[in-house]
Amino acid sequence: MCGIVGIVSESKDCLKKLQEGLCALEYRGYDSAGITFFVNNKFKTIKNVGSPKELFDGLDLKVKSNVGIAHTRWATHGKPDKVNAHPHLSEKGLFSVVHNGIIENYRELKDSLLSGVNFKSQTDSEVISNLLEYFYSGDVLSAIKNVTKVLDGCYALAIMCKDDKDKIYFARKNMSLLIGINNNERYLSSDLSAFSKECDTYLTLPNNSYGFIQKNKEEIFNFNNEKVCVKVENIENKAFLTKQGKFNYFMEKEIYEIKAVLQDTILCFKENKFNFKDKEFFQNIKYIKIIACGTSYHASLVGEKLFDSLGIMSNAEIASEFIYRKPYLPENTLAIFVSQSGETADTLAAIKVAKSLGAKTLGITNVKNSAVDRECDESIYLHAGVEKAVASTKAYNAQVLTFYLLKNILQKPQNKEAEFIDVLEQNIKKLNIKTMHKNILPVVALVKNSKNIFVVGRNFDYITSLEASLKIKEITYLNCEGFAAGELKHGTLALIETNSVVIAYITEKNLIDKTLNIVAQAKSRGAKIVIISQFNLKKLVAVSDYFIKLANFSEQFMPIVSIIPIQLLAYETSLALKHNPDKPRNLAKSVTVE
Ligand code: M6R
Repeated sequence: MCGIVGIVSESKDCLKKLQEGLCALEYRGYDSAGITFFVNNKFKTIKNVGSPKELFDGLDLKVKSNVGIAHTRWATHGKPDKVNAHPHLSEKGLFSVVHNGIIENYRELKDSLLSGVNFKSQTDSEVISNLLEYFYSGDVLSAIKNVTKVLDGCYALAIMCKDDKDKIYFARKNMSLLIGINNNERYLSSDLSAFSKECDTYLTLPNNSYGFIQKNKEEIFNFNNEKVCVKVENIENKAFLTKQGKFNYFMEKEIYEIKAVLQDTILCFKENKFNFKDKEFFQNIKYIKIIACGTSYHASLVGEKLFDSLGIMSNAEIASEFIYRKPYLPENTLAIFVSQSGETADTLAAIKVAKSLGAKTLGITNVKNSAVDRECDESIYLHAGVEKAVASTKAYNAQVLTFYLLKNILQKPQNKEAEFIDVLEQNIKKLNIKTMHKNILPVVALVKNSKNIFVVGRNFDYITSLEASLKIKEITYLNCEGFAAGELKHGTLALIETNSVVIAYITEKNLIDKTLNIVAQAKSRGAKIVIISQFNLKKLVAVSDYFIKLANFSEQFMPIVSIIPIQLLAYETSLALKHNPDKPRNLAKSVTVE
């Protein structure tokens, strides 16, 4: 959603560090950005429409300052313009606040406690700085305490007060906030990627906490006003600090990382299985419910089929649907929550519902210490490394592989694990992303000029088609639908006309002819046909305008990698249409509001 970074430092180069930190958080939202810092003992606030980079391009980074907060926004309340950009100053200018989250009762607060205030923006966030000013009588902590009592909703806040030139205050409720620790320097940030390379340790602020950072210490209180100690952790994996390198965009880099991610995932599994606290966690599981959003939901559909094939009744559901009905979860249900970011609001709400229905909960997430990780009884980590492009790629492949590993654990009698892992490893070795990339280039012009794209497949290929169509829509803005191949004739075939594009996945041998029938029907109505398959058969090549050959991955594991050509095709088409694939319009990386 939005990204927050704050720095209190002994050195006076905080603008440079805020620039680096905010640019690293840009993937969380990029429609406007802003900063407040102390200079000559006064607040200086600058805001801009556009990305953090554009904000800092217009700033003199040599200005000496050692305290500042910055924010990159994904608009929810109020359009993306300079006035609505954060930080928000209080009316008398005593407080400057950046906010991630949503204040649900902001209208009521405006009409009651803050009825005399002249608000400048359309945001919910502006009430926070004004409430601080309303409650302030010389003690910032007690003002924050009072503010937390009247705010409904969720928030991560970084707060500067004009009277306190060496501190940044904070508060968090249901939104992540971390403190990065360096010698004579403290960072406050939405995630690890904003910390400087020198930070070796950090701590995760507990939910419902507030406090402050100074250059060499932090103080944290819970909402009962008790001081709390939080375990300091080492930043083990600094891979998140890696830059785009030789790649033009993060999305391209992340697709090229898929092979290493899959290898890492298997390595970690071999080393410690899933290393659960409760060694009996999977005992007596009778039913598996898998809940997620977007790409993670598509990976969950693979999980559903895999578990079903073991004879464990299983079902995947979209989180925002699950929470607004009256779901029934039988006794001995395992509820699995899949989330790359671990912060998706709908998924978090679903965890609450599942827990209230008595299910055991398991998170599958890429982010250790994320809300999903904290809320679930047990967690499995994806080992995909930080994913910055809004369109999820390598995390999907890691999620699907994780379901295969999980299936192997649940299988009774257990599969010969060494053999299973060996076959998987041999398959992954065969992956050549560069070749896949080259192979899809001829199809870009066709897709780019099409108004109507359909991706079809059966069984696992149907799931891949759903994910493929999301990838294409998300970063090309072209109309693209994923369909079960057999469903096309039940209505949607009416849309097929000359120059429609039908991309058909055919990776299951026993379904080749069945899917080909549908392809032939679409072709005879004028559609251009792209077939993606590992089977280099004459009949497939003959019917297709473009044939994309998949690596000879064994059929049973194909869903782990079959999406890659479309990840690359979506990326290249987005570039051909002059979009920025890393930052699609209207979207943000983690959707932390319902
Ligand atoms: O972080 P999560 O996996 O919970 O995010 C869920 C969706 O918002 C996410 O997968 C979204 O659909 C992606 N942008 C798709 O590429």
